[in-house]
Amino acid sequence: MYNGPYYRYDLQLLERTIKVAQEAAQQSGTILHYAIKANHEEPILRKIKSGGMNVDCVSAGEIKAALENGWNANQIVFAGSGKTIREISYALEQNIFVIHCESVEEYHLIQELKQHITTSTKVALRLNPDLRVDTHENISTGEKHHKFGVSPQEALELVQLDGSICGFHVHVGSQILDMTYFVSLSKKIRDFIDALPSNYSFDYLNLGGGLGIDYEQPERNPIPNFEGWINAIRTHLPTSLIEVIRLEPGRSIVGQCGTLIGEVQYMKHLETSMPLAILDIGMTELMRPALYGARHKISAHHEAFNFASYRISGPSCESSDSFGSDYLLPILKRGDLVTVHSTGAYGSSMRLNYNLKETIPSRFINRPLETCFKARNRKVA
Ligand code: LLP
Repeated sequence: MYNGPYYRYDLQLLERTIKVAQEAAQQSGTILHYAIKANHEEPILRKIKSGGMNVDCVSAGEIKAALENGWNANQIVFAGSGKTIREISYALEQNIFVIHCESVEEYHLIQELKQHITTSTKVALRLNPDLRVDTHENISTGEKHHKFGVSPQEALELVQLDGSICGFHVHVGSQILDMTYFVSLSKKIRDFIDALPSNYSFDYLNLGGGLGIDYEQPERNPIPNFEGWINAIRTHLPTSLIEVIRLEPGRSIVGQCGTLIGEVQYMKHLETSMPLAILDIGMTELMRPALYGARHKISAHHEAFNFASYRISGPSCESSDSFGSDYLLPILKRGDLVTVHSTGAYGSSMRLNYNLKETIPSRFINRPLETCFKARNRKVA
């Protein structure tokens, strides 16, 4: 019975994904910190925690969620270009593992706060390596005009000032599918390390997240290429040079285990475009298409002999609430169910309050999607 839209999570796929990621990591001296911003639904966090991953946070709220879901403080790292005094104080009081400091001013603020708070939390510098990667501009973070991190020059000056800085963090962007960018990143970091003063030593290196997923053919590639990613990172940073590297996968862990199930509310046959299907889900449940023009695979689960190309929109009062055009689907009509694929990452965690639309539920299911759609359209597990 369809009782309205919902996020649907395949916990079996999540478990398999975590296992593949952890195996790839363990083979090459890598520790994974799940980027909790990608999805913070509790059953998802519980699986990730029990899969042995650490965690990466970007707010006090995320640190709190990690602690409440059983992570130890010493498994938590904390980045963010605009951390507040309250957030830094909270992180220090909780004795989290490492704060990734993103500016010279933030460095001085942390030092000041440390004079009043007894803590075991270490400080690493987030480096801006000035590396352009092939992804959407809005999710690219490692070029020098971006707001993230300190420049290599600032980093050199800070480590000369303070030998207790435990190491470095970088994150150059998200949804990166071409592994050569990670090879370039590894080279840049190697060059940076080679230029460090000889009297400074560090034991912490974290190269962030960024591994992309296959949005076009999620069923074909449900599990991203973790091994290829880690090997690319290790190209110029071998275990002989740095025994442990940390990475912060978000999307690649949870992206493919989530789908969004909705229903066609109305069909419109406009003079100027292909037929338009208006759904009961849209930008309030999945911001990515409206925010980045992101394309998600959409399928319909009813039997039909004829297909047509559709434009698909959400219901919000914004023309940008659109999944895009040219979706080839079985002939659609009011009441048909549709699935938006690959919504496990940056779907529910970025949901909007806009229009006071009802918050949709999440269902956590231990079966693949296909087995949940019976032959007839309306029966969905
Ligand atoms: N570490 C840091 C410091 C980050 O800022 C991010 C993501 C990650 C790790 C995880 O990156 P991932 O493995 O998921 O690529 N809302 C956008 C993505 C924003 C990513 C922000 N930072 C989207 O829906 O595509």
